[in-house]
Amino acid sequence: MKKTNILFVCLGNICRSPSAETIMKQLVQTKGLQNKYYIDSAGIIGFHAGEPADARMRAHAKKRDYSITSISRQFNPITDFKDFDLIIGMDKKNIQDLQSLTIEEEFLQKIYLMTKFNKIFKEEGVPDPYYGGYEGFEYVLDLLEDACSGLLSELEEF
Ligand code: 4NP
Repeated sequence: MKKTNILFVCLGNICRSPSAETIMKQLVQTKGLQNKYYIDSAGIIGFHAGEPADARMRAHAKKRDYSITSISRQFNPITDFKDFDLIIGMDKKNIQDLQSLTIEEEFLQKIYLMTKFNKIFKEEGVPDPYYGGYEGFEYVLDLLEDACSGLLSELEEF
């Protein structure tokens, strides 16, 4: 059976989207569904390409037993719109940027805002924690855990 390919996208691919990738992979693994999903992340900008995730983000994730190991890469409009079934942006600007990279209706329909899947936290977008403090990183993880759970429920219809 063909896997469902999910790509999480944020601006730099060093804070929010690698966290979403890690949380979603762990959730899928816990449920024994790893054969059904391929999960990756990318950034709108390539400024941090080749770098590991932000050390602060990794440290906060570690406290919740998540190990973020992904290496930053830039979103590739040529391959990623084709290869992925769901392209999930972290905030509204990410969505606008993704939408500006294609005119294909088929590809535009693959783009979703992460917080659309939240069940507990009512928020329009995952705020960028990069220039903020401690609480910002914890809030990102709270939002992403909620959204990943909601996303998997929707995909598995349970
Ligand atoms: P992210 O956070 O989009 O969640 O990875 C950011 C990381 C780096 C920058 C902006 C946001 N930056 O401008 O370098």
